[in-house]
Amino acid sequence: MSRVKRVLIVLGSVVTVVALAVGGLFAWLWTGADVSTVGKASFDNALAIPPLAESTVDEDGTRVFDLRMRAGETEFEDGVKTPTWGFNGSYLGPTLRATRGEKVRVRIANGLDEASGVHWHGMHLPARVDGGPHQMIAAGGTWTPHWTVDQPAATLWYHPHPHGATERHVRKGLAGMFILDDEKSGELALPKRYGVDDLPVIVQDVRFDGAKLDGGRRMMQNVGFLGDRTMVNGTLRPYREVGDELIRLRLLNASTARTYAFGFPDDRAFSLIATDGGLLERPESMDRVQLSPGERAEIVVQMRAGERVMLRSFPQDNYGDGWQRRFGGGDDSFDVLELRAAEALRPSPAIPAALGESETPDGTDAVRGRHFDLKRSGINGRAMDMGRVDETVTRGTTEVWTVRNGNGMPHNFHVHDVQFRVLEVDGQAPPAALRGPKDTVFVPHGTTVKLALHFTGPADPESPYMYHCHLLYHEDEGMMGQFVVVDKGQRASGHRHG
Ligand code: C2O
Ligand code: CU
Ligand code: CU
Repeated sequence: MSRVKRVLIVLGSVVTVVALAVGGLFAWLWTGADVSTVGKASFDNALAIPPLAESTVDEDGTRVFDLRMRAGETEFEDGVKTPTWGFNGSYLGPTLRATRGEKVRVRIANGLDEASGVHWHGMHLPARVDGGPHQMIAAGGTWTPHWTVDQPAATLWYHPHPHGATERHVRKGLAGMFILDDEKSGELALPKRYGVDDLPVIVQDVRFDGAKLDGGRRMMQNVGFLGDRTMVNGTLRPYREVGDELIRLRLLNASTARTYAFGFPDDRAFSLIATDGGLLERPESMDRVQLSPGERAEIVVQMRAGERVMLRSFPQDNYGDGWQRRFGGGDDSFDVLELRAAEALRPSPAIPAALGESETPDGTDAVRGRHFDLKRSGINGRAMDMGRVDETVTRGTTEVWTVRNGNGMPHNFHVHDVQFRVLEVDGQAPPAALRGPKDTVFVPHGTTVKLALHFTGPADPESPYMYHCHLLYHEDEGMMGQFVVVDKGQRASGHRHG
């Protein structure tokens, strides 16, 4: 054999071995990348229901709440103490509740040993009490924002917003619900007994590293941390006994990066009655509802006496290409919450045919348009800069914002202060699930959404609101921008203008 031939044979086998190894490694990564907890465990833990926060009403009629952020330990599994953070407890926080027109004040104490904050996600309120990254509460410090609730009944939530560290603070357990009521919602014949036929369902994905909550991002997970199991209200493998024919679930995706498509194994239809910012005009029947991080949906489910039915999250075909679906969580499925119906159910009144009145703008009076190009490296080519105001909006006007994702991975888009209307998804009228008031919208790769937003202020040229991707790893990396609401002719002050 010639020397050349021998060298070629050796080289050939080396290449083959390397190719096989790489191929094998890839096949191993690929097949191991999708997660399913479907049918794998029995759901034997009684679902925790976050307590309604106590409040007092002071002389001028202001409802006053107290929240204390603190570190603690939580037993997610019996006998295993996991270090966590919470509001007024060791994990998550109480449900705040207030009515439209009410003045509220929240006395917040930061008992952690690092600075944090509390942002009121979905709330329309002055920028200086929004709780964004400019309103940090020092370790050991306090902050007492107050405002008047002036928006329809809705399921909102609260969580920290420290720039660059939001993911970690939320994942450690700092999140809670903020339910708003109004006169009309109080009169509607909807399930509304908190914890009985009206259940808060805060969904988070987690992974444990021994006793600790693991936050590590796996190879090729460009959306951020993805857990291998889910919890509801901090309960692993939860079940809830229910005794009414109709059960309302207030679904909140409080996960840091994971998007869910909720439904039931028998594909039963349920009624979507509310989105992020409150009630739809009429209930919409569907069998799946998709929620990306930060989004909420209220659904009403019909129960049959004696049955057990699982709330499940199913694989999502709009999540991107095969690669994204596999490594970004779109192929995953989870058993989330088992509902156990009593042998005899209390009859529930039928869901009203008319629910809320839309208060979101239809865009016909828009005075200007803006474009937002979503990239993991930043929005419109710029990473977040605390000292730069990106957009200046005039108080009292409506705008149309066009948000596009061509970044090859899923993102979403959240705007502080307002509830917007989705006018179009890729040039088409939005699907039923996106027709209600929204503050966060899923924008998978290759998608363009058009939003109508109305800004009522108050004007404050010094305090910016945020808009950002609510996949918290992306937000922390800088997928965020700032806008101020000003009076006509006013300019943003105290910050450089982008
Ligand atoms: Cu829920 Cu700016 O966030
Ligand atoms: Cu927000
Ligand atoms: Cu993103």
